[in-house]
Formats: sequence, structure tokens, C-alpha cells
Amino acid sequence: MFRFHSIMAASLDQSIIFQTANERPEPIQAQMRGKIPSWLRGTLIRNGPGRFECGDTSFNHWFDGQALLHRFFIKDGKVTYSNKFVRSQSYVDSLKHGKASHLEFGSYIPPDPCQNIFSRFFSRYWGPEMPFDNTCINVFPMKDKMYATTESEFLFQIDPKTLETLEKVDLGKEFPADITISSMTAHPHVTPDGSVINVSATFGTSPSYNIICIPPYTGETRETPLEGGKVICSIPPTSGIGYHHSFCLTENFIVVTEVPLMLNIWRFLGHRFFGTSLEDWLYWDPKQRTRFHVVDRRKGDRVGVFTADPFFVFHHINAFEKDGKIHVDGCCYRDNSPVKQFYLHNLRSPAEPGQKKCATPYVRRYELPMDKLGSVEEMPLQRGGDGKDFTLLLIGMDLPRINYEEHNGKPYKFVYEARSLDHQALFGKIVKLNLETGEFVTWEEPGGFASEPVFVKAPDGKEEDDGVILSCVINVIDQTTSLHVLDAKDLKELGRGVVEGVTPVSIHGVFQ
Ligand SMILES: [Fe+2]
Repeated sequence: MFRFHSIMAASLDQSIIFQTANERPEPIQAQMRGKIPSWLRGTLIRNGPGRFECGDTSFNHWFDGQALLHRFFIKDGKVTYSNKFVRSQSYVDSLKHGKASHLEFGSYIPPDPCQNIFSRFFSRYWGPEMPFDNTCINVFPMKDKMYATTESEFLFQIDPKTLETLEKVDLGKEFPADITISSMTAHPHVTPDGSVINVSATFGTSPSYNIICIPPYTGETRETPLEGGKVICSIPPTSGIGYHHSFCLTENFIVVTEVPLMLNIWRFLGHRFFGTSLEDWLYWDPKQRTRFHVVDRRKGDRVGVFTADPFFVFHHINAFEKDGKIHVDGCCYRDNSPVKQFYLHNLRSPAEPGQKKCATPYVRRYELPMDKLGSVEEMPLQRGGDGKDFTLLLIGMDLPRINYEEHNGKPYKFVYEARSLDHQALFGKIVKLNLETGEFVTWEEPGGFASEPVFVKAPDGKEEDDGVILSCVINVIDQTTSLHVLDAKDLKELGRGVVEGVTPVSIHGVFQ
């Protein structure tokens, strides 16, 4: 029987979705219910933390879990499922040593598992740091290949059919332009011509944000993964490098949101002595404002800096130009609380009555006046009659997806997101929001934890929401993992492919 781990009693205990899985690399035929559209054919690959213990070592933070790729293959109304861990150095070394040996986002791990006390002392304080290469957040296509990514300088090329790990790409060493990439966002944009645009950061004595572009595949068989890569624009950080997870494009501009979650260099320098991890090195500075850096896409010039009352954002939804303004939509938080709340002890523990375990995301729209572009002098955004410098669109949604191919960077009407159940984990309901009217519809089922909803356009679709939503739903009552296919119009279920067993919840994915 197909089971990832034994769970004797079904319950709504959300800790189940944050547990270690066994690898299942061979495709399993899902049991089909309902009817999946015959035109729907392709592969949904999702990525997320899937292994939280290595020998006696337990990770602390959700983002520390080693990357597990999930693959749903859809053809002729049938679905198969398989999964496989990314063979990062972190994963391979943990198998080799029987315990974790790499520093992770929220777990300090001494760098070397030496056997005697003198070697252990030396390696802890002076030995080489192991690379932070657990690419457990997202997957995306670049040139003619597929990559798993996180927020470090590393990517892993994967085989979308077998989920094998093929090649490690180190942007810190291999990026062809004259910069050193220390990190980059987990959400690169892929433009209609196949170019990949991302925002990277360079640490050190001359820190900077660098917007980079990797051109599409030329057809040359010996083309390297980053061939032709260039820097579009460099942006000096306001006061040290900050955390950045995503950014957004419009037809003419790139908008980089600089949130006041900053890297404390002294905490970093002392981390071996104090046993701290990357999450500990970040600090929230409420005295700083959040900044929108606006860059001209074609000229590569920074043409505006707008500031807002401090907020934190993991996920931008979209941006577009309309009525003389750049509209920037995002799932915003009042501060960096969600980063702290994603420690596993919080996610796995049952909520006390009335307890709010996860901060509330606010879907907000910020409007940047285009007639003020042309200067990089900071300009505060205008406040409305309610005293806010943004428009609130909805409360309680994150992990947004849109009709990306047709509407990224352009005016749009619909966003699909995950919504929490009573402030538990992010994953409860699926919501479709009409951004023009504020109307929304939801999908949910008893015991179901739904992942990020991925929109797939129908081949003959004419309207923005002509298509389906794909979501991996973990049902802790049925003890199943399913690929749900919903009608994007009304979120009514069309069909699902069900396999037995509960898998760890994934974060982001791509359909091809
Ligand atoms: Fe993300």
C-alpha cells in the first residue's frame, strides 16, 4: 500500500503536512474521480520542504526541510504521481554523514561532523562553511531546461520526467557579468520570449541589488545555463542588504520592493560563536520605510523611488500601468512575523482556542505616479482619505497565481490564492478574487489542505479565466494526496486524481 508515513488516527492536525516523506520516484497511477478535461495534458511539478530530520538532527524552520519535488503527469484524463528529493550537497552530505552538516535558513548546523573534539572545535570556528544549497522553494524554466531554486546563489537543473537532479549551477561563480551574486529571489520572471529576469543581491563591502537577465535558448547544443547573462540595473541598498523574495514587472518597468527586513552583519559575523542561522541574522527595522525602486526595462535606468509605510511582502501578485500609474499588487504583512511563524514548532503545534498562529496577509494595491518618474529622490506615496497609502483589496490570502502568460505585467482581473483556515497554516481554502469588483469565491473540503492554485488556460479560451485551476490537496481525514482540477470560472471541482498517503505540503510549482 502506498503510504508515506503511518498515521493511526485521522484528524485535522495540520502538523501532518509538515512531516518527513519517504521518496516515491516511480509514478503511481492515481484513482480518478469526476472528469478532467481531455485538453488538459502536461506535467505539474511542485517543490517544497520534504525531509525535516537527518539522523539525530532535526531542523527548526519550515524552509530548512530538504527539497522534495512532486510530479503530477496528466494525460487522457488520467494522473500519475511521483516524488523525488533534490540531490543538493546538503541532502547528499546528510545521507553520507547520517546527520545534517550544512547551515540552513533557520537551523545552525556546525560545519563538519568530525569525530574528535579538537577537530570539531576547529571546524566549528574556522572550517569552511558548507553551501546553503537546499533549493526547496520553487521550480522554473530557463532556456530549454527546468530548475529548482531557493534564495541562495544555487540552482539545480532537474529532469521534469524523472525528477532526477542533473546539474548544479552556481551563479556566484558562473554568472558571466562582472558581479558576484550572493543570493537571488525565488521568483524569477520568465518573459514571453523566454528570457529570465531576476533580482539578485551582492553582499560584502560594496553591497548592491542587481537585476539580471538570462536570454532565451538559442538552439546551440553547447550553450551553458547562464550564457548571455547580463546585468540590467544595479541598485544601491538604502541601509544594508535586505530580504527579498519576489518582485514584479510591467510592460515598461521593473519594480523592486525593498522591505525593511535587513541583514545584520554583526550577527552574521558572530554566528559560529552564537550558533545562529540566517533567519537570526535578519532584523526588522520599523523606523525604515518600504521602498519601491522603479527601473526602466529597456534603458536599465532607475527612474523612481517611492516609499510607503513599512510592510513586508513575500509575494507580489502582479503590476501594470494604467491611468498614469504603476499599480503594484501584493500579499502584504504588517511586519516580518510570518518569517518567524514558519518555525516548525509553531506550525506543528495545535492552536489554542482563539490563538492566531500565522500573521494575516493583506492583499494590497499600491499606486506609483508615473508623472513623478525621472528622479531617484525618495517620494512618499500619497495617502487616501482613510490615511492609508494603499488600497486594501482582501484580507487573508497568499501564494497568488494569475493567468501569467497573458496578463503578467498587464492589466488583469482575477487572482487565485490560498487562504488559511482560522489562522492556521496558509493552506486551507482556495480563493478566486475579482480585483475589479472585490467579489470572491472559495473552494474547500473537510480535512483538505490546498496548495498554491496554478492556473492553466484552456486552448480555446477567450476570457482571462477560461481554464482550470490545479492544486495539490492533502486530506488528513481521507489520508490522501490529490491533484484537484477546478473550473477557474467558479472553482467548482471537475475531477481529481487521488493517491493514498499524506505528503508534505509543497510551496510553489509550474505546469508545462
Ligand atoms: Fe514564494
